[in-house]
Amino acid sequence: MHATRILTKEHVLIKQVLDLLDESRQALETGIPVPMIFFEKAGIFCSEFADRFHHFKEEFLLFGLLSYKKQGELDTAMGALRYQHDRCRQCMAQITRALERYEKNDEMAVTLVLEHLSVYVSLLHRHIHTEDHLFFPMAEKSLSTEENDSLTGQFAEQARRFDKSGRFLEKHQALADELSDITGSW
Ligand SMILES: [Fe+2]
Ligand SMILES: [Fe+2]
Repeated sequence: MHATRILTKEHVLIKQVLDLLDESRQALETGIPVPMIFFEKAGIFCSEFADRFHHFKEEFLLFGLLSYKKQGELDTAMGALRYQHDRCRQCMAQITRALERYEKNDEMAVTLVLEHLSVYVSLLHRHIHTEDHLFFPMAEKSLSTEENDSLTGQFAEQARRFDKSGRFLEKHQALADELSDITGSW
């Protein structure tokens, strides 16, 4: 399997959570209360799975290899993707910081959550679309079989570091299912 197919498979789960986050955004827009536990659990998913697990692989393993191989030719495209990762991290951190006051129905905190949620959902949707349809197909063509095998091996090693049982994806699928159950309650 090409290394980018592993990343695309992870995108399917991330997009599932993005759709739930979009539902929470629409609820907030129309004054429907969204329980704080939804944003707490979504924050854990986005931080652990999307950021520390998935984005790490892209930035430090795939982009690193491509930057070396293509001698800077792709640095502008990868710079934009890195910037989007950063902005998403910042938005999720802002949402998490606002939650204590959000729980007390502080209108300023609700506004902050809605503002950063909207940016997060919109940017990450565009980001994943760009990776799946433009960047990854180009990366697939650029890497040799040996480079791809090396990258796939590094991905597997990183997955073992995160979860020795090899069930990291399944655990986060379960978390996404919990989020889906919560959205059914409002
Ligand atoms: Fe990415
Ligand atoms: Fe990605």
